[in-house]
Amino acid sequence: MAAQINPSILSADFARLADEAEAVRGADWLHVDVMDNHFVPNLTLGVPVVESLARATDTPLDCHLMIEAPDRWAPQYVEAGAGSVTFHVEAAAAPVRLAREIRAKGARASMALKPATPIEPYEDLLPELDMLLIMTVEPGFGGQAFLDIMLPKIRRTRELISKHGLELWLQVDGGVSAATIERCADAGADVFVAGSAVYGASDPAEAVRALRTQAEG
Ligand code: DX5
Ligand code: ZN
Repeated sequence: MAAQINPSILSADFARLADEAEAVRGADWLHVDVMDNHFVPNLTLGVPVVESLARATDTPLDCHLMIEAPDRWAPQYVEAGAGSVTFHVEAAAAPVRLAREIRAKGARASMALKPATPIEPYEDLLPELDMLLIMTVEPGFGGQAFLDIMLPKIRRTRELISKHGLELWLQVDGGVSAATIERCADAGADVFVAGSAVYGASDPAEAVRALRTQAEG
């Protein structure tokens, strides 16, 4: 699969979200970080903002839920217009049931792992998912340094995906930039979230193109 670049609006200007979505036209997905101040020590946005943003842009929304009780909330993000919904396995009460519900409602189902959460216990769940997200920083804030120690986990996950012959996308999120994206791609990631590396650039759309070229290099 060609590399996909998903700019994270966490690094955008929240007062101008429609314009900020337009500024990254050509990106594959718009990554929307939902934080509840419980699962992570930060608070961002919720269902009404996702609903408005879905109406304001043609770019599909990749909602990353860093929240407690995703079993209760995730389906509402599908209804709000998200094309992909990611829940954290550390917070989910019933990840298989939740993934099936997200798919049944018509979105791609995705599961995220914090840095200290291993992939191996979840090998048998992979066929239930459309994407797996490996966090390459502790979730909660943009602009943190990429954790190199996650590269072996990316590699092992790619091996598991191949072993089972799955179509699953493998996303990385946190500290992805021109300096780190090639290492992620080499390890087997194919979907790249980038917040500060895109919205911190003078030309965000150009930054997306440059990251894609590098990832495909
Ligand atoms: C962090 C979020 C990320 C964040 C990435 O918890 O999940 O999506 O926006 O930002 P950068 O790319 O700046 O590390
Ligand atoms: Zn994210």
